[in-house]
Amino acid sequence: MKYRNLTLAVAVALSAATAQGHEIRLCVFPHSPTRAVDTAVAHAVFEHLGLRYRVVDLGAALGHGALPQASLVHLLGGKCDVFAGVPMSDDATPPATLLSSRPYAAADFVEFGMPGVAASGTVAVAYRTPAQLIAADAKVPNFDVENTPEAVIDAVVNHRATRGIAWYPSLLAYEQEHSGTRFTVAPVHSRLSHWDLRFVAAPRQRVLLGRVSRSLDAMHHSGALQRLTAPLAPHAEAAQTASASAPNPAQGGKAAAQAPAGPTAQFAAEQVGPGRQVYAAECAKCHGAKLEGRTAPALMGPGFAPASNSTMTIGGIYQYVTTNMPADKPGLLKPAQYVDVMAYLLQANGYAPSGKALTAQGAGNDSSQFDSFVK
Ligand code: HEC
Repeated sequence: MKYRNLTLAVAVALSAATAQGHEIRLCVFPHSPTRAVDTAVAHAVFEHLGLRYRVVDLGAALGHGALPQASLVHLLGGKCDVFAGVPMSDDATPPATLLSSRPYAAADFVEFGMPGVAASGTVAVAYRTPAQLIAADAKVPNFDVENTPEAVIDAVVNHRATRGIAWYPSLLAYEQEHSGTRFTVAPVHSRLSHWDLRFVAAPRQRVLLGRVSRSLDAMHHSGALQRLTAPLAPHAEAAQTASASAPNPAQGGKAAAQAPAGPTAQFAAEQVGPGRQVYAAECAKCHGAKLEGRTAPALMGPGFAPASNSTMTIGGIYQYVTTNMPADKPGLLKPAQYVDVMAYLLQANGYAPSGKALTAQGAGNDSSQFDSFVK
């Protein structure tokens, strides 16, 4: 009941703002190679949420280069309510002045070259970009620093370097503008190479961003998100190697038949006790001592995640909680506390521990549906 009223109150507050003509002002990077996908995803999200929006023309306000974080914060304090298409590194902790949604597409840095060119020799990277840090972190023996990412691609295309490290979306954009060019692409092994695209907003847009994340979850679950972001998906050959290493359906079926009857999720039994303590100290005052809901929605049972009809994923809930909860100090718990409380939520909703400890990375990336098996 409370949950419904609350959701309604939020919906009313948002639509009242909209009715007064305060459309959501959406910003995207005008020169980003991901712009088309960012705009399409944002359109689908706001349509799904029933919110009016307009794209702010940042035109000349931004140059072609990377936008310093301070400028992003400034724009989100003024011209823009939400920014779509902000690349974020898995490895970075976002600043407290910015909140981000769950990711909607992977956008990694990769190693690339021309077909038929041996992978030895110099690797080109652009000065003062993540590519330069990645080359150092991955201990690339022989790298060449170019002035810009464009110069890196040019060096590889014209055989001045045998390989390069670049942002995957820029390579796709280059291929599109130069039909006939097709790079070979390989992952580069560094903890700095995994990036994704997100919506970012100032902390006062907390509620809106939470709804954006949950809308992205629902679209992920229905497959709509994968269709919208397909233009940024890795090359076919990469996809093939990935599917070759996946277990074949026959083996998968056998494994499923041997699995225990109850649903399991990735967490260890040892994480549940500490998770219960975090819950009691940080969440119970709003969500109820038994997760039954008080001033905030229940976190257990059909009102939270109706069995086999849930629109949420484990990763989606985790992202939502780490970004927005506890509502009185969003994002301020330690990573281990968030992980443990997630293990507690899984157990409380009827999941059995797989035995493998849940980690922040594992939780955030888990795209399996979150159902509650508690009546
Ligand atoms: C100060 C009150 C408060 C505290 C403390 C708090 N929450 Fe919340 N929480 C809320 C409110 C309010 C909402 C609903 C927001 C909305 O609908 O936009 C919410 C929503 C949620 C949701 C999404 C529920 C749904 O139906 O989709 C989850 C999951 C959640 N909280 C988990 C937590 C966890 C875990 C903690 C402790 C680490 C916590 N919350 C602490 C107020 C709180």
